[in-house]
Amino acid sequence: MTRSVLVTGGNRGIGLAIARAFAAAGDKVAVTHRGSGAPDGLLGIKCDVTDPDQVAAAFAEASEVHGPVSVVVANAGITEDTLLLRMDEDKFHRVLDTNLGGAYRTAKAAVPDMVRARAGSIVFVSSVAGLRGSEGQANYAASKAGLVGFARSLARELGPRNITVNVVAPGLVDTDMTDKLSDARKAQIVSEVPLRRSASPEEIASAVTWLASASYVTGAVIPVDGGLGMGH
Ligand SMILES: NC(=O)c1ccc[n+]([C@@H]2O[C@H](COP(=O)([O-])OP(=O)(O)OC[C@H]3O[C@@H](n4cnc5c(N)ncnc54)[C@H](OP(=O)(O)O)[C@@H]3O)[C@@H](O)[C@H]2O)c1
Repeated sequence: MTRSVLVTGGNRGIGLAIARAFAAAGDKVAVTHRGSGAPDGLLGIKCDVTDPDQVAAAFAEASEVHGPVSVVVANAGITEDTLLLRMDEDKFHRVLDTNLGGAYRTAKAAVPDMVRARAGSIVFVSSVAGLRGSEGQANYAASKAGLVGFARSLARELGPRNITVNVVAPGLVDTDMTDKLSDARKAQIVSEVPLRRSASPEEIASAVTWLASASYVTGAVIPVDGGLGMGH
């Protein structure tokens, strides 16, 4: 069955790989971006996840073009890394507002159609940092840990309506986000990864597409981290 899928931040990086994986499976896929547009074959919708009106409008547009959204992937996220003593209020709140607040707005906009359809799947893109902590990323790790409690609460609320809610927790993935890290920092992380390498965005996408079709899996946190966060 062809589904209407919406991926936030689906214009590049992990989100784009996720969007392409759904499209390759035959789904109709809308991706949100903040001005870059979307690659061919995907419906691009301009949307900043910090603005509830833009998020609601994005769902309305995806629904009009592709039908009510039945799979949503809350992927948009940012980092603003620094040690706690240098982390001012703005740096803390911007990251929380985008990563956790954006996921809240996305889920809130997605749920009414899913409840009506008595079907749906929500996948949140968290991070290994949310489970094991990460120095210099207290804001980011807090936002990503928050997604786990948020998702599991929604899994309980929405399970009776046949809506699954799950989390994917990637480790180090090769994207623009990690391009910002020094080679030394990346090498240090990789040395702690049992598989001794970073992931491709496609390796994260495969877990997301699987979860979106896993009808008896809800409230799960799936690590896709080469073993980095093992034990959490
Ligand atoms: N890369 C990793 O190692 C890694 C590891 C674990 C988890 N993750 C998570 O995976 C997700 C994707 O990361 P990535 O590595 O693909 O990062 P990326 O290449 O930096 O892409 C980030 C995406 O998020 C979008 N975005 C950022 N702020 C937004 C906002 N306010 N409103 C709407 N969209 C916004 C960006 O849109 P624009 O193009 O408009 O900026 C872009 O599409 C993030 O949640 C990240 O935390 C990444």
